[in-house]
Amino acid sequence: MQQIAIFASGAGSNAARIIDHFRHHSSIKISLVVCNKPDAGVLNIAAREHIPTLLLEKERFFRGDAYVPVLKELNIHFIVLAGFLWKVPSALVQSYKGKIVNIHPALLPKYGGKGMYGRLVHEAVIAAKEKASGITIHYVDELYDHGQTIFQASCSIDEDDTPETLAQKVHLLEHEHFPRIIEQVLLGDS
Ligand code: GRF
Repeated sequence: MQQIAIFASGAGSNAARIIDHFRHHSSIKISLVVCNKPDAGVLNIAAREHIPTLLLEKERFFRGDAYVPVLKELNIHFIVLAGFLWKVPSALVQSYKGKIVNIHPALLPKYGGKGMYGRLVHEAVIAAKEKASGITIHYVDELYDHGQTIFQASCSIDEDDTPETLAQKVHLLEHEHFPRIIEQVLLGDS
């Protein structure tokens, strides 16, 4: 059984769909939800789904063992960042080399990097008068939004689109593609 830990900081709509996607899977299991915010919606989703949770403590994550021993102890094989707003420390990237993926709500390499998350991304895309935006699913390395791209999907940006309406279009792409791409990566056919 390949065990996944989902790292998330927010509402957890992506986490919810990933959990749903793998609910009855024969060889992949969502075993842990890791979060850095005690009041994040994703923790309620984990509780409802009876999935164990781990609340990160900043010092230990960035200047301690990055919780690597805990994750190994729990037999976590793969890490999915689904709206996780902290940078992954090198200790974790190194111990899960090629086993951490992230979803970014824009077509990288543009509109990525430190401080580019959530609404700020959509505002920048619209301010730049882009005609399209979308999602990028990529491997995680030591830099923000920098690892090798696995998959991208795009959506058009219309004249009357706002950061909110664009966010809705991008969220739909995330929910449509992220679970399937994770499965493809884990089953080795991507
Ligand atoms: C998504 O927009 C994702 O692209 C970004 O963080 C957001 C997470 O949303 N990395 P949710 O918490 O899954 O609803």
